[in-house]
Amino acid sequence: MLIKVPRGWEVPEREAIREDQYHTRRNVLRSMGFVGMGGMLPRALLGAAEEGALYPAKRNAKYTLDRPLTMEQVATGYNNFYEFTLDKQQVRFRVDRFKINPWAVKVHGRINNPKTYDIDDLVRKFPLEERLYRFRCVEAWSMAVPWTGFPMSTLIRESDPKPDANYIRMVTAYRPREMPGIVSQPHYDWPYEEAMTLDEAMNELALFGTGIYGKPLPKQNGAPIRAIIPWKYGLKNIKSIVEIEFTKKRPPTLWNKAAPTEYGWYSNVNPKKPHPRWSQAHERIVPTGEVRPTLMYNGYESFVAELYTGNEY
Ligand code: MTE
Repeated sequence: MLIKVPRGWEVPEREAIREDQYHTRRNVLRSMGFVGMGGMLPRALLGAAEEGALYPAKRNAKYTLDRPLTMEQVATGYNNFYEFTLDKQQVRFRVDRFKINPWAVKVHGRINNPKTYDIDDLVRKFPLEERLYRFRCVEAWSMAVPWTGFPMSTLIRESDPKPDANYIRMVTAYRPREMPGIVSQPHYDWPYEEAMTLDEAMNELALFGTGIYGKPLPKQNGAPIRAIIPWKYGLKNIKSIVEIEFTKKRPPTLWNKAAPTEYGWYSNVNPKKPHPRWSQAHERIVPTGEVRPTLMYNGYESFVAELYTGNEY
């Protein structure tokens, strides 16, 4: 991963969306009344209409921001998704062949209730909510994003872990024919895999994300389902998940295997632990370029500090 940020896409600060403006847009969409029209539509359009009923989900007001939301076009146009390309601004133009429907998520391992979920059932089984979270990449840039999803804890409870389930392992789709970056970067140990302790995954902040800006996730942001772990670096927020496994032993992760001294297994946001090639003491807010001190656990210390001794990297 590189620290360089191409500047071509940058938008002036005055154009960055404020929270109140975002609220207004949501209300306009609601008042246009697309939701609930299912009965009037041909069957082929029913899926889209039903999806409309899920989004935008009700916002959970508990989680607040200390900065304006990033503009939607920035958060959906500046992406890390190496299965497609390393060029952040090109990801959205390389995802056309990637099929996200149908989509199954296999949940298995040390649990009493293993199951393969169809994504359409999954998003209806667990109530969706919207949360505004800070998002901090290990490359030292940050955004503030309205995610939609459901707490990881709800799926974990449903799965009924056995007493020796200590970790969850998550795996991204591996489809070389649909993901050109897999073919052009054979040196990475695909598929992309991430993991966390079961205690971390049970924390109230940890989500399975299915939407962004009040809509289903676009492919470049990890459709149809990804991890949202706001106190960890972005690389832990694995996209386009097809498998969730509960394990006894600590699972390896793609970045930690590739460069263990650069990307710790925990990868908690920590201003005092520099990356070997750059400091993590500050972050650069995208797209304004405003520099702010990095907050311990990305500002979520009161939620997660109890999980750690402070020496987890
Ligand atoms: N998941 C997969 N499968 N492949 C990736 O390359 N990149 C990670 C993470 N999840 C990545 C991934 C990194 S480094 C970051 S910063 C975030 O996704 C970027 O998420 P965003 O594009 O929604 O901002």
